[in-house]
Order: sequence, then C-alpha cells, then structure tokens
Amino acid sequence: MTALSPTLSAESGPTPSDPGLDRREAFLIDLAREAGRLAQRAFSGAETLAYRMKGPQDFLTVTDAAVEELVQNRLQSAFPEDGFLGEESGGVLSPQIWVVDPIDGTANFARRIPHYCVSIAFVSHGVIALGAVFDPAHDELYFARQGRGATRNGKPVRVSDVRDAHAACVELGWSTRVPNSDYLDALAGILKAGANARRGATGALGLAYVADGRSDGYAELHMQPWDCLAGLLLVEEAGGRVSPYLENGGLAKGGPVLAVAPGAADLMQSATGIALK
Ligand code: IPD
Ligand code: CA
Repeated sequence: MTALSPTLSAESGPTPSDPGLDRREAFLIDLAREAGRLAQRAFSGAETLAYRMKGPQDFLTVTDAAVEELVQNRLQSAFPEDGFLGEESGGVLSPQIWVVDPIDGTANFARRIPHYCVSIAFVSHGVIALGAVFDPAHDELYFARQGRGATRNGKPVRVSDVRDAHAACVELGWSTRVPNSDYLDALAGILKAGANARRGATGALGLAYVADGRSDGYAELHMQPWDCLAGLLLVEEAGGRVSPYLENGGLAKGGPVLAVAPGAADLMQSATGIALK
C-alpha cells in the first residue's frame, strides 16, 4: 500500500505567472507525449500480453511499470525537490507533488483495445496546478493549467451545453473498492432520470471527455488520485463542476468523484449522492 503522510494545506497555491510552474508546464507536455509513445509502441507488441492480476479485475502489464519508471526518472531528474506518487510504485505526500497513472485503462490495454491514456497531475499546496491526459492511440493530448483553461492538442475545449436529461450521455466508472449494489443504485438513478450511461474503463480519459463535451458527466464512487486529479482540473477549467476531491482528503485516501457539465449537475448529484463544490 502506498505510504502517505499528512495532508496538504490549501495556503500559498500557485499563481498564474509562477515561473516554476511555467517550466513544469512545458516539461509535462513533452513528458506526457513521451510516456504515451512508449505505451503505444508496446501496445502492438507481445509484451502487452504479459500481465498479472493485482486483484479481481485489476490488471498490471509490464508496460505499466516501464512507463511509470520513465516518468518518475524524468521528473526526479528535472525537479528533484518535488514529491512523486505513482499508481505502481506509490510515494510519500509532499507539498508539491506529481501524481501519475502510467496507463489508465490497463484492462483495455491488455486486451488491445485502443482506449487508454497516461495521466499526470501536479499538485501544489493543496491545489491541482497542472493536469495532462494523453491518449496515444488517437494522438490526443488534453492539458490544463489552473486558471488558464483546458485544451486538446493546444485548442480550447469546453464542457457540453446539455440541458435535457433525455439527451444526456454520462459515464459511470466502477471498481471492486465499493460494493456492486452501490453502483447498481447509481446506475438505476441515471437511467431512471432518462439519461444514457456507458463505461469506457479509463476514468482519466472519461473525465477528459467531459471536459471536451464528448460526455456530459463522469461519476465513480471511489477513485484513486492518479486516476482523477488531472481529469478533475480539465473539467473545471473547461467550465464544468466537480466534487471537492482534494478538500475531502482524496490525495491521501481517494474518494468519490463527480465531474459534470453544469446542465447535468442535478441529475448526477441525485443519481450518485455525490455533492459538487
Ligand atoms: C481503473 C480505470 C477504471 C476505473 C477504476 C480504475 P486502471 O484504473 O480508471 O476506469 O473505473 O477505478 O482503477 O486499473 O485502468 O489503471
Ligand atoms: Ca488507473
């Protein structure tokens, strides 16, 4: 289990013109692409099939470890003063920390379904300052910096303007960390409201799709920080509403996630019971 130390404070967060953040932003954009290229090379190779199970429905391929090692080495050489928390190698919390999922959507990746991504967030003093989600199979890089909007391949993205639940299509993610019955209740609530629901099996990319207006909302009753931090920033910066994940201690213990276009807020809050900020 990941070794995590005390919570971070929300004081002295990054300022929009912070030169340290400018450097990290440029580095992150290149790194997300480099990490994604490594995953995509492995995707068509035999290595992809070499997986083991970390738990029920929880896949680990050799590529997850290789990508995380690359990302960790690059970040530690460039920013030795920053902390690191990765899905595969864990970490210790620190006031400035990179939070990394080397492959989100590993179950898709291991079955050669080209719907997975690399997700990297930078958290500074209790604020998600930077977030990148790269889908290498489609060459789509989602990036956000706090206060500066969200982009796909450099072009601004916005959440959808959905108004009517009967036209809404949202995503519900799930894992074995929460009882199935709770997910079935949430799904029933979504369908009862008249909305459509899907599960793409990569929470980080599911959140990026909300930012991009491809999906009207994403909910999951418990997410780990590497799965959701970059995506939560993307949705907020694209004009959406999100649940108070860091505020509720999500960096240390994970927590519920809801991220929506404003027009799907009521529907998803009542279906899932997850409050928005
Ligand atoms: C999982 C995926 C899935 C989500 C799970 C995650 P993994 O991560 O994001 O969509 O529902 O909560 O654990 O195993 O693909 O890295
Ligand atoms: Ca993941």
